[in-house]
Amino acid sequence: MAIIPADEHAYVQHLNDDNGDARTAFLNWMATERKQDFATLENQDSSLSTTRNPFDAYKDREAVSRGAVIYKYHCARCHGDDARGNGPSVLEGHSARDFHSFGNRFASTLHRGAPRKWFRVITEGDGETLNYPDDPSTAMPPFKDKLTREQTWLVITYMQSLDKHAVRKTTPSSDTPNTEKGADGTGQK
Ligand code: HEC
Repeated sequence: MAIIPADEHAYVQHLNDDNGDARTAFLNWMATERKQDFATLENQDSSLSTTRNPFDAYKDREAVSRGAVIYKYHCARCHGDDARGNGPSVLEGHSARDFHSFGNRFASTLHRGAPRKWFRVITEGDGETLNYPDDPSTAMPPFKDKLTREQTWLVITYMQSLDKHAVRKTTPSSDTPNTEKGADGTGQK
């Protein structure tokens, strides 16, 4: 999943220290790493763009790794470890999006319109309200209060890296070749 083990280790440790609060854990992690205080980082984060990804999924292996860590702990339960949209928490008939599907790949790599839309969907949520057993919410829950803007862009960078051309340039891929002609979204394994 493109994860650099040290990134996962650091993030999990902060998640534990901060009772699973993703936003606080990330800011504390960055405070240690960048030797800046929490409030300064929080301030900088609030001025990050909401429309332009500051990271490059084609070149920035560290950003892809950190995004993959965020994905693993906050998104995979619905979107699936394989990012095909059928993690254990999705409700029947309401699977999450397949991030390998041609439409998404096309939009994120050629037209570059998808990342901006994704930022909005991740922060605001999307879809009808569903009775998720743990916490009823829109089908795609809003992460506005749970993730910093930087975390949101990192996870988007990871999603963009699922494009096979991006993966090839960042790190040798261990993924099996992506042959999905006629993908029908059933997510059958
Ligand atoms: C509780 C389940 C759940 C979790 C957790 C979840 N998602 Fe989703 N997500 C969904 C569902 C379901 C949809 C489809 C929504 C719809 O039908 O409108 C979706 C849609 C999306 C979309 C829109 C894709 C598109 O092109 O339309 C994006 C982007 C997305 N999710 C990203 C994320 C990210 C990033 C995370 C983690 C930070 C995450 N999701 C966590 C269930 C989830």
